[in-house]
Amino acid sequence: MLALLATALSALPLLLVPVVGAQSPPPVLVYSRTLGYRHQSIPVAIDALASIAQNTSLYDPTFSEDPSLFTDEQLQPFKAVVFLSNSEEVLDLEGQAALARWLGSGGSLIGLHAGSACLFNDTAFGTALGSWFDYHPDLQNVTFTKLMSHPTIDMLPDRYTYVEEAHHFRSDPRSVNCTVLLSYDPSLVDDPAFGTRPYYQGTPPPIAWFREGQTVDLTNGTAGAEAATMTGRTWFTSLGHTSDFWRDELNLGHIEAG
Ligand SMILES: *[C@@H]1O[C@H](CO)[C@@H](O)[C@H](O)[C@H]1NC(C)=O
Ligand SMILES: *[C@@H]1O[C@H](CO)[C@@H](O)[C@H](O)[C@H]1NC(C)=O
Ligand SMILES: *[C@@H]1O[C@H](CO)[C@@H](O)[C@H](O)[C@H]1NC(C)=O
Ligand SMILES: *[C@@H]1O[C@H](CO)[C@@H](O)[C@H](O)[C@H]1NC(C)=O
Ligand SMILES: *[C@@H]1O[C@H](CO)[C@@H](O)[C@H](O)[C@H]1NC(C)=O
Repeated sequence: MLALLATALSALPLLLVPVVGAQSPPPVLVYSRTLGYRHQSIPVAIDALASIAQNTSLYDPTFSEDPSLFTDEQLQPFKAVVFLSNSEEVLDLEGQAALARWLGSGGSLIGLHAGSACLFNDTAFGTALGSWFDYHPDLQNVTFTKLMSHPTIDMLPDRYTYVEEAHHFRSDPRSVNCTVLLSYDPSLVDDPAFGTRPYYQGTPPPIAWFREGQTVDLTNGTAGAEAATMTGRTWFTSLGHTSDFWRDELNLGHIEAG
């Protein structure tokens, strides 16, 4: 009887193989809560992310602005969390801690456009994402430049000029193991605040970046913070201010690959 049971149990993994083979797309939480500035492009971005998911089956999105989803239990099923054009303190301290623990357990983080413009006091979040938003000059034609070849930017022209915000950041994502993909040509941008800010974002100026196959200490030396080491992936692009961005095939190629 016992031997029979053992045989049945050991056969179980084999029986499961076909089921695992027909994998469903990884669940991804897209979080677009705002408490301050709210981008008009958010609903257009959500439509685009839903359409990409439907067309490609790359991910199974849950769109939400509900901070109560940020608990150990509710974050657990998600493979990635996407911060989409947020503003201000969109999670309380418990939510921030749950997010850090989930990142410490292997979760991956994606930031889209102003996804870095929130949780400014949360060291784990800023370190996981790579940095925080500082400021941007007025919306205008910006010429973005590629710093390397990478599947998430290869579809863009080498010098890519269109109407966007050139975001500046509060620290250098390269200092927390990120690799910068996109920069821009500051000499072509009308930016009176350029070089006057108290932060160092590194050079060339970061616009989009990733972290993969690297670990990062999310406490970054902050006393009292819960220890968490992130081993998952990060992908961030500061592109995406306008609604037109989220309707443009070229830009959506960048987002889909990311
Ligand atoms: C998804 O496919 C439909 C039908 O081909 C197309 O109209 C739509 O633009 C696609 N969406 C994206 C985001 O590429
Ligand atoms: C963030 O930290 C600063 C400086 O310690 C403090 O003045 C501010 O109130 C904090 N903001 C939030 C939302 O906790
Ligand atoms: C992490 O700490 C280092 C050294 O203390 C600091 O230079 C860097 O800006 C910090 N990074 C973040 C994202 O806080
Ligand atoms: C951006 O450049 C295009 C092409 O030169 C021009 O038509 C458009 O007016 C410019 N837009 C802005 C906001 O400067
Ligand atoms: C960057 O990655 C290396 C190698 O995995 C690790 O030793 C280092 O602590 C990481 N840097 C940060 C700031 O966490």
